[in-house]
Amino acid sequence: MSRKIMIAGNWKMNCLQKEGTDLAKNIALNVKKNKYNCDFLVCPPFTLLSNVKKALRGSKVSLGGQNAHFAEKGAHTGDVSPQMLKDIGCEYVILGHSERRTDHKETSALVAKKAEAAYNSGLKTIICVGETLEQREQGKTIDICSKQVKTSLPKNATAANTIIAYEPVWAIGTGKTPTAKDVEDVHAAIRQVVAQKFGTKTANNMRILYGGSVKPSNSKEFLSLPDVDGALIGGASLKSEDFLAIAKSVC
Ligand code: PGA
Repeated sequence: MSRKIMIAGNWKMNCLQKEGTDLAKNIALNVKKNKYNCDFLVCPPFTLLSNVKKALRGSKVSLGGQNAHFAEKGAHTGDVSPQMLKDIGCEYVILGHSERRTDHKETSALVAKKAEAAYNSGLKTIICVGETLEQREQGKTIDICSKQVKTSLPKNATAANTIIAYEPVWAIGTGKTPTAKDVEDVHAAIRQVVAQKFGTKTANNMRILYGGSVKPSNSKEFLSLPDVDGALIGGASLKSEDFLAIAKSVC
Protein backbone atom coordinates (compact mmCIF):
# COMPACT_ATOMS: atom_id res chain seq x y z
CA MET A 1 0.00 0.00 0.00
CA SER A 2 1.49 3.31 -0.97
CA ARG A 3 -0.53 6.46 -0.94
CA LYS A 4 1.38 9.41 -2.29
CA ILE A 5 0.83 12.70 -0.49
CA MET A 6 -1.30 15.17 -2.46
CA ILE A 7 -0.89 18.89 -1.90
CA ALA A 8 -3.93 20.56 -3.45
CA GLY A 9 -4.76 24.26 -3.65
CA ASN A 10 -8.37 25.41 -3.78
CA TRP A 11 -8.14 29.00 -4.94
CA LYS A 12 -11.92 29.49 -4.59
CA MET A 13 -13.19 32.80 -6.07
CA ASN A 14 -9.82 34.53 -5.96
CA CYS A 15 -7.24 36.01 -8.36
CA LEU A 16 -7.52 37.98 -11.57
CA GLN A 17 -5.40 36.96 -14.59
CA LYS A 18 -2.06 38.49 -13.56
CA GLU A 19 -2.19 37.41 -9.94
CA GLY A 20 -3.32 33.90 -10.87
CA THR A 21 -0.75 33.33 -13.60
CA ASP A 22 2.05 34.73 -11.40
CA LEU A 23 1.01 32.41 -8.59
CA ALA A 24 0.93 29.40 -10.93
CA LYS A 25 4.30 30.33 -12.45
CA ASN A 26 5.93 30.60 -9.01
CA ILE A 27 4.55 27.23 -7.98
CA ALA A 28 5.60 25.60 -11.26
CA LEU A 29 9.11 27.03 -11.06
CA ASN A 30 9.64 25.85 -7.51
CA VAL A 31 8.20 22.38 -8.15
CA LYS A 32 10.49 22.00 -11.17
CA LYS A 33 13.55 23.01 -9.11
CA ASN A 34 12.89 20.91 -6.02
CA LYS A 35 12.37 17.20 -5.76
CA TYR A 36 9.22 16.93 -3.68
CA ASN A 37 7.92 13.43 -3.15
CA CYS A 38 4.26 14.37 -3.53
CA ASP A 39 1.63 15.23 -6.10
CA PHE A 40 0.60 18.83 -6.64
CA LEU A 41 -2.74 20.15 -7.80
CA VAL A 42 -4.12 23.66 -8.18
CA CYS A 43 -7.80 24.42 -8.67
CA PRO A 44 -8.25 28.00 -9.86
CA PRO A 45 -11.57 29.59 -10.82
CA PHE A 46 -12.84 28.74 -14.33
CA THR A 47 -11.72 32.10 -15.77
CA LEU A 48 -8.08 31.29 -14.99
CA LEU A 49 -7.90 27.67 -16.13
CA SER A 50 -6.54 28.37 -19.58
CA ASN A 51 -3.76 30.74 -18.50
CA VAL A 52 -2.85 28.70 -15.44
CA LYS A 53 -2.58 25.61 -17.64
CA LYS A 54 -0.03 27.48 -19.77
CA ALA A 55 1.84 28.71 -16.70
CA LEU A 56 2.12 25.16 -15.34
CA ARG A 57 3.44 23.67 -18.57
CA GLY A 58 6.20 21.11 -18.00
CA SER A 59 5.92 21.24 -14.22
CA LYS A 60 3.98 18.13 -13.11
CA VAL A 61 1.50 20.33 -11.24
CA SER A 62 -1.99 19.12 -12.11
CA LEU A 63 -4.95 21.36 -12.85
CA GLY A 64 -8.46 21.00 -11.48
CA GLY A 65 -11.82 22.73 -11.59
CA GLN A 66 -13.78 23.62 -8.45
CA ASN A 67 -17.14 22.28 -9.61
CA ALA A 68 -18.87 20.85 -12.66
CA HIS A 69 -22.41 20.13 -13.85
CA PHE A 70 -23.49 16.53 -14.39
CA ALA A 71 -24.64 17.12 -17.96
CA GLU A 72 -22.27 16.98 -20.93
CA LYS A 73 -23.73 20.12 -22.47
CA GLY A 74 -26.97 21.97 -22.96
CA ALA A 75 -29.24 24.59 -21.44
CA HIS A 76 -27.55 25.15 -18.08
CA THR A 77 -26.78 28.86 -17.92
CA GLY A 78 -23.73 29.63 -15.84
CA ASP A 79 -22.60 26.02 -15.54
CA VAL A 80 -19.55 24.22 -16.86
CA SER A 81 -19.50 20.56 -17.91
CA PRO A 82 -16.89 17.95 -16.96
CA GLN A 83 -16.06 17.61 -20.66
CA MET A 84 -15.27 21.33 -20.81
CA LEU A 85 -12.89 20.97 -17.86
CA LYS A 86 -11.22 17.99 -19.48
CA ASP A 87 -10.99 19.86 -22.76
CA ILE A 88 -9.17 22.81 -21.16
CA GLY A 89 -6.62 20.51 -19.54
CA CYS A 90 -8.03 19.64 -16.14
CA GLU A 91 -7.26 16.30 -14.59
CA TYR A 92 -9.39 16.79 -11.46
CA VAL A 93 -12.57 18.42 -10.27
CA ILE A 94 -13.51 19.28 -6.69
CA LEU A 95 -17.08 18.21 -5.93
CA GLY A 96 -19.33 18.75 -2.94
CA HIS A 97 -17.23 21.41 -1.25
CA SER A 98 -19.13 22.69 1.79
CA GLU A 99 -19.40 26.12 0.17
CA ARG A 100 -21.28 24.48 -2.73
CA ARG A 101 -23.37 22.41 -0.33
CA THR A 102 -24.28 25.59 1.60
CA ASP A 103 -24.42 28.31 -1.06
CA HIS A 104 -25.97 26.18 -3.80
CA LYS A 105 -27.86 23.61 -1.75
CA GLU A 106 -25.91 20.74 -3.30
CA THR A 107 -26.88 17.38 -1.83
CA SER A 108 -24.77 14.25 -1.62
CA ALA A 109 -27.02 12.64 -4.25
CA LEU A 110 -26.22 15.48 -6.63
CA VAL A 111 -22.52 15.20 -5.82
CA ALA A 112 -22.63 11.48 -6.68
CA LYS A 113 -24.34 12.27 -9.99
CA LYS A 114 -21.70 14.88 -10.80
CA ALA A 115 -18.92 12.46 -9.86
CA GLU A 116 -20.26 9.84 -12.25
CA ALA A 117 -20.35 12.39 -15.05
CA ALA A 118 -16.83 13.48 -14.18
CA TYR A 119 -15.51 9.90 -14.43
CA ASN A 120 -17.29 9.49 -17.76
CA SER A 121 -15.37 12.50 -19.05
CA GLY A 122 -12.07 11.11 -17.79
CA LEU A 123 -11.76 13.41 -14.79
CA LYS A 124 -10.74 12.39 -11.30
CA THR A 125 -12.70 13.81 -8.40
CA ILE A 126 -11.94 15.29 -5.01
CA ILE A 127 -15.13 14.70 -3.06
CA CYS A 128 -15.50 16.84 0.07
CA VAL A 129 -17.26 15.91 3.29
CA GLY A 130 -17.37 17.50 6.71
CA GLU A 131 -19.53 18.35 9.70
CA THR A 132 -20.82 21.74 10.88
CA LEU A 133 -19.96 23.08 14.32
CA GLU A 134 -23.45 22.24 15.55
CA GLN A 135 -23.10 18.65 14.37
CA ARG A 136 -19.69 18.39 16.01
CA GLU A 137 -21.03 19.74 19.31
CA GLN A 138 -23.79 17.15 19.16
CA GLY A 139 -21.17 14.41 18.78
CA LYS A 140 -22.35 13.56 15.26
CA THR A 141 -19.09 14.15 13.36
CA ILE A 142 -18.37 10.55 12.41
CA ASP A 143 -22.02 9.78 11.61
CA ILE A 144 -22.35 12.81 9.34
CA CYS A 145 -19.07 12.24 7.52
CA SER A 146 -19.75 8.51 7.10
CA LYS A 147 -23.17 9.23 5.64
CA GLN A 148 -21.75 11.85 3.27
CA VAL A 149 -19.08 9.45 2.07
CA LYS A 150 -21.63 6.65 1.55
CA THR A 151 -23.98 8.86 -0.44
CA SER A 152 -21.57 11.18 -2.30
CA LEU A 153 -19.32 8.51 -3.84
CA PRO A 154 -20.99 6.73 -6.77
CA LYS A 155 -20.68 2.99 -7.35
CA ASN A 156 -17.88 3.35 -9.88
CA ALA A 157 -15.62 5.36 -7.60
CA THR A 158 -12.16 3.80 -7.32
CA ALA A 159 -8.92 4.65 -5.58
CA ALA A 160 -7.59 5.76 -8.96
CA ASN A 161 -10.39 8.16 -9.85
CA THR A 162 -11.39 9.49 -6.43
CA ILE A 163 -9.84 11.38 -3.55
CA ILE A 164 -11.87 12.23 -0.45
CA ALA A 165 -11.29 15.51 1.40
CA TYR A 166 -12.39 15.76 5.02
CA GLU A 167 -13.06 19.41 5.73
CA PRO A 168 -14.86 20.32 8.95
CA VAL A 169 -17.07 23.24 7.91
CA TRP A 170 -16.19 25.21 11.05
CA ALA A 171 -12.46 24.90 10.33
CA ILE A 172 -12.63 26.33 6.80
CA GLY A 173 -11.10 29.80 6.62
CA THR A 174 -11.45 30.32 10.38
CA GLY A 175 -7.97 29.50 11.65
CA LYS A 176 -9.58 26.90 13.92
CA THR A 177 -8.65 23.25 13.53
CA PRO A 178 -9.58 19.96 15.14
CA THR A 179 -6.91 18.19 17.16
CA ALA A 180 -4.65 15.76 15.33
CA LYS A 181 -6.39 12.90 17.14
CA ASP A 182 -9.82 14.10 15.98
CA VAL A 183 -8.59 14.30 12.40
CA GLU A 184 -7.06 10.83 12.50
CA ASP A 185 -10.24 9.37 14.05
CA VAL A 186 -12.44 10.84 11.32
CA HIS A 187 -10.07 9.77 8.53
CA ALA A 188 -9.88 6.24 9.91
CA ALA A 189 -13.68 6.12 10.13
CA ILE A 190 -14.00 7.38 6.55
CA ARG A 191 -11.56 4.71 5.38
CA GLN A 192 -13.69 2.10 7.12
CA VAL A 193 -16.79 3.30 5.30
CA VAL A 194 -14.91 3.12 2.00
CA ALA A 195 -13.85 -0.44 2.90
CA GLN A 196 -17.45 -1.43 3.61
CA LYS A 197 -18.70 0.01 0.34
CA PHE A 198 -15.81 -0.68 -2.03
CA GLY A 199 -13.61 -3.29 -0.33
CA THR A 200 -10.40 -3.14 1.67
CA LYS A 201 -8.07 -2.79 -1.28
CA THR A 202 -9.82 0.32 -2.53
CA ALA A 203 -9.96 1.73 1.00
CA ASN A 204 -6.25 1.13 1.53
CA ASN A 205 -5.37 2.87 -1.72
CA MET A 206 -7.81 5.79 -1.70
CA ARG A 207 -6.30 9.09 -0.62
CA ILE A 208 -8.07 11.07 2.09
CA LEU A 209 -6.98 14.69 2.40
CA TYR A 210 -7.52 16.96 5.36
CA GLY A 211 -8.71 20.52 4.70
CA GLY A 212 -9.57 23.45 6.96
CA SER A 213 -7.09 26.16 7.97
CA VAL A 214 -4.03 24.15 6.91
CA LYS A 215 -0.93 26.36 7.02
CA PRO A 216 2.84 25.85 7.21
CA SER A 217 2.79 25.91 11.02
CA ASN A 218 0.30 23.03 11.41
CA SER A 219 0.73 21.00 8.21
CA LYS A 220 3.36 18.60 9.49
CA GLU A 221 1.20 17.58 12.44
CA PHE A 222 -1.79 16.74 10.22
CA LEU A 223 0.08 15.33 7.25
CA SER A 224 2.10 12.92 9.37
CA LEU A 225 -1.04 11.13 10.58
CA PRO A 226 -1.37 7.56 9.26
CA ASP A 227 -4.72 8.10 7.51
CA VAL A 228 -4.06 11.61 6.21
CA ASP A 229 -2.76 11.53 2.66
CA GLY A 230 -2.42 15.20 1.91
CA ALA A 231 -4.15 18.53 2.24
CA LEU A 232 -6.77 20.58 0.46
CA ILE A 233 -5.66 24.13 1.12
CA GLY A 234 -7.70 27.29 0.65
CA GLY A 235 -6.29 30.55 2.04
CA ALA A 236 -2.68 29.38 2.31
CA SER A 237 -2.69 28.16 -1.30
CA LEU A 238 -2.91 31.75 -2.52
CA LYS A 239 0.67 32.47 -1.44
CA SER A 240 3.19 30.31 -3.26
CA GLU A 241 5.62 30.45 -0.29
CA ASP A 242 2.99 29.08 2.10
CA PHE A 243 1.68 26.48 -0.35
CA LEU A 244 5.20 25.20 -0.99
CA ALA A 245 6.18 25.38 2.68
CA ILE A 246 3.28 23.05 3.42
CA ALA A 247 4.64 20.61 0.83
CA LYS A 248 8.14 20.99 2.23
CA SER A 249 6.95 20.14 5.74
CA VAL A 250 6.12 16.59 4.64
CA CYS A 251 7.40 15.78 1.15
P1 PGA B 1 -8.95 27.05 4.13
O1 PGA B 1 -9.96 26.38 3.07
O2 PGA B 1 -7.63 26.38 3.96
O3 PGA B 1 -8.92 28.50 3.75
O4 PGA B 1 -9.53 26.81 5.47
C1 PGA B 1 -9.93 25.01 2.78
C2 PGA B 1 -10.99 24.65 1.78
O5 PGA B 1 -12.11 25.17 1.87
O6 PGA B 1 -10.75 23.83 0.88
